[in-house]
Amino acid sequence: MQKINKTSNSQAQVYQAQPLIKAQPLFQQVCIIGLGLIGASLAQAIKDNGLSKRLVAVDRYAPSLEAGIEQGLLDAGGLTLSEVITGSDLIVIAVPVQAVEAVFVDIKGVMNSGQLASDCIITDVCSTKGNIIAAAKAVFTTLPIGLVPAHPIAGAENSGYHARRAELFVNHSVIICKLPTTNYMSIIKLRQLWEAVGATVMAMDAEHHDSILAHTSHLPHLLAFNLVEQLASHDDNLDMFRYAAGGFRDFSRIAASDPKMWHDIFFANQSAIVSALDEYSVCLQTMRQLIIDKDSTALMGLLGRAQAARRHFGHMLASTPYTDISAMSASYVISPSTTVTGTIAIPGDKSISHRSIMLGSLAEGVTHVTGFLEGEDALATLQAFRDMGVTIEGPNKGRLTIHGVGMNGLKPSKTPLYMGNSGTSMRLLSGILAAQAFDSVLTGDTSLNKRPMERVAAPLRQMGAVIQSTGTSGTSPLSITGRDNVGKLLQGINYDMPVASAQIKSCLLLAGLWADGTTTVTQPEVSRDHTERMLSAFGYEVTVDGNRISVEGGGKLTGGDIAVPADISSAAFFMVAAAISKGSELTLTQVGVNPTRTGIIDILKLMNADISLSNETHVGGEPVADITIRSSNLMGIEIPESLVPLAIDEFPVLFIAASCAQGRTVLTGAKELRVKESDRIVVMAEGLQTLGIDCTVTEDGLIIEGKGIEGNGTEINNSQPIFGGGHIVSHHDHRIAMSFTVASLRASQQITIEGVETVNTSFPGFAELANQIGMAVQVDSGIDNSIDNA
Ligand code: S3P
Repeated sequence: MQKINKTSNSQAQVYQAQPLIKAQPLFQQVCIIGLGLIGASLAQAIKDNGLSKRLVAVDRYAPSLEAGIEQGLLDAGGLTLSEVITGSDLIVIAVPVQAVEAVFVDIKGVMNSGQLASDCIITDVCSTKGNIIAAAKAVFTTLPIGLVPAHPIAGAENSGYHARRAELFVNHSVIICKLPTTNYMSIIKLRQLWEAVGATVMAMDAEHHDSILAHTSHLPHLLAFNLVEQLASHDDNLDMFRYAAGGFRDFSRIAASDPKMWHDIFFANQSAIVSALDEYSVCLQTMRQLIIDKDSTALMGLLGRAQAARRHFGHMLASTPYTDISAMSASYVISPSTTVTGTIAIPGDKSISHRSIMLGSLAEGVTHVTGFLEGEDALATLQAFRDMGVTIEGPNKGRLTIHGVGMNGLKPSKTPLYMGNSGTSMRLLSGILAAQAFDSVLTGDTSLNKRPMERVAAPLRQMGAVIQSTGTSGTSPLSITGRDNVGKLLQGINYDMPVASAQIKSCLLLAGLWADGTTTVTQPEVSRDHTERMLSAFGYEVTVDGNRISVEGGGKLTGGDIAVPADISSAAFFMVAAAISKGSELTLTQVGVNPTRTGIIDILKLMNADISLSNETHVGGEPVADITIRSSNLMGIEIPESLVPLAIDEFPVLFIAASCAQGRTVLTGAKELRVKESDRIVVMAEGLQTLGIDCTVTEDGLIIEGKGIEGNGTEINNSQPIFGGGHIVSHHDHRIAMSFTVASLRASQQITIEGVETVNTSFPGFAELANQIGMAVQVDSGIDNSIDNA
C-alpha cells in the first residue's frame, strides 16, 4: 500500500504521494467529468501518483476548472466534452446519478464524431449501479466495450472541488461491476488505477451491489436524515438540539451530506432501498415490543449480539484478531533485565474459559462465570455461541452471565462461525455442531486455516457425521451438515485416539452428548481433563476408567457457577522467568494446578527448580494453589515422554529454561508441537540459534545444549548472560513471543520480537505484567499514523 504524505501548501491542500507507479503512466489522457469531491480527489490522486500523461476535466462550473488549471492539477478544462476529450483513453464520470444519462449522450456524440475511440474505457463513481447500466443501455444501441461501472466506497460530508483529498481512497473499497460486454483489458486497467490510488478492488454484479449498498449506506443515510428531521420538527426542538449528546451527533453526522445527491440516490436505487427499509421496520417493531414487554433477556441478547457483531464482522473480513485490530504487526523491544519479584495474578485459564461458554450455553438455566479469560481465543468461542442465538452478558472484568438454551436450543448462525486463531474453539465446536439439527460452516484466520482438522473430522465421520474439510491437508474451513439433512442421530463409538490430545477427546465427548448409545475415547497418555470435570460439574455423568472416558448420549446439563482459575500455561512464562534469573522470587496467586496440567511444575522440578505450592484449595471442581518460584541453578534433563501431554503448551518457555540449564536437555515424543499455532520445534530452534544457543531439531523434539554453569556450593550461579540479542520472528505464535520475552532476563543485548499481536489470544496484559515484576518490555504497536495525522 502506498503511503501518502501531506505537504504544506497555501490555499488548496495538496498531497504528495510516494508513488508506486512512477515509471509508466497507466493512461495517455484521463478525462474527469465532474470536479466534485470524488472527481477532484481522484484527479488529485492520479496527478500525485503520475498515473496519466495528461489530465483534463469537464465541469459546468468554470471556477473549479480554472482553479484546477491554475494549481497545475489539470492540463485542460472545458464546459463541454468536445472541448477536451480528444486523446482520452479513460473517462471517469463523477456527476450526480441522475445526470449520468445526459453524459452518456455526450460521450456517444464524441464517439460518433470520431473524437473519441470506441474502445476508450468509460467508468463512473456513482453509488448505484443498476440505473447506470439502464441509462447506458438507453443511450447506446450496443454497450461500449470499455464501459466498466464502478463505485468507490469513499466520501466525506464536505463536497466540492476544494474539499478534495488525494488520499480519500486509501484503504477504501472500490466495487467494479463486470458487464458481459466489457473487454478484459478495460477491467484490468481500471483495477490498476484504483489500486494505485490506495483502494482495494472487488468485483460484484450490479444487482448485488445495489442491494448491499441499500443496506450499508443508503439506509443509514436515510435514517440519519430522518432522525434529524424528527428532532427538528419536535415542539421543543431547541432544547432537543441543545441537549443532544454524542449519540445524536454520531448518528446524525451523515445527515450533513448533500441533500440533492441523496434525493437522487434514493430514487435511483428505489426498490432495494424500499426492501431494506421494510426489513428495518420489522426489526424496529421487534425491539419496540421487547421494551413494552420488559423482556430483559431477549433485549440483552439482541443488544449484546449487535454490539459483538459490529466488532466481529470487521475482524472476520480482515481475518484479524478481535480485540485490537490496530495492533497487527506489533513488536516487543526488550532490554535486558536481571531480576523479577512480586506477587501477581495471572489471567484466567483459556481451556476452562472455552468450556464455560460451551457448556453454559448448552445448559438449562443461567451460568455465572468469573475469572473468564478475555483473550482472543475464548472471545471467539463466545462470539460463536452468540451467533447461534445464545444470550451472553459481558464479559465485564472476567464476569459473564450465560442464559443457557438447553441441549437443543442452538440456532443456525447466519454467517460462517469465525474462530479467529483458536484451534480449541474449532475442534471442540466441530463435535457440538456435528450433532446439531442445522448445517454450519467453521472458519478461522490464516494461521488456523492451515492447522489439521481431519483429526476431529475423521472420528466424527465414524459417528455418522457429515463433515467436509478443505484441501488435501484437511484444514478449515469446515462444512458440517446438520442432523435434519443427514436424517439420523450420531452413533456412539469406541475410539482409540492416535495422539494424546484433549481437543480430540473433548470434541468426541461433546458430540457423544447427542449420540445414540455410548461414546468411549481411549487416550494413549493422560491429557487435560477439563471437559470431563466441567461436564460432571454441570450434572452430566462421565465415566473415567484409566485412560478410557465414556459418556451416554441423551442427558442434559444444568447451569451453575464457574470460577475460572488462573492459567498455568500463562503462569509458566513467569515461573521460568523467576527460575532463570538472579535473586528472583515470584508468587503467582490462585493458579489452576489440575494434575493434567502440571507437567511444567514436574519438569522444572526435575531440572532442579525451586517451586512450592501454598493455599491449595478447589474452585469449581478444579484444584488451585499459589505458586512460589525462586532463582535456582537449573540442570539439563531428558524429559520423560509421559509428561509431554501434561506440559504441551509450555515447551517453548521450557526451551528457554533448558538453554539456561547446565548441560543438555533432550525432548522426545513431542511431534504434536509441530502442529500448534506454529511448528514450535522449528520456530523455537530458529530463535534460540539467533540468540546464540546450540540446539538440534529432531523429528519429534529438540536437543538443547544448556549454557548454564555449575553453582558454587549453595550459591546460585545465574548471573552470567546466556543469550545474545537479536531479532526474533514469532510466526504470530503467542507462546513463541512470550517465551523469547523471558529470555531477556539472561540476555546480554536487546531482543526484538516481531508479530506479538497474537499474545492477546491467551494473555492480554502480558507486557504490562512483565514490566510490573521488573522486566523491560516496550510495545511497538506497528501502526503507521502518517495518514491519520495528515
Ligand atoms: C487444549 C488442548 C491442547 C492445547 C491447547 C488447548 C484444550 O491441545 O495445546 O492449547 O483446551 O483442550 P491438544 O489437546 O490438541 O494437544
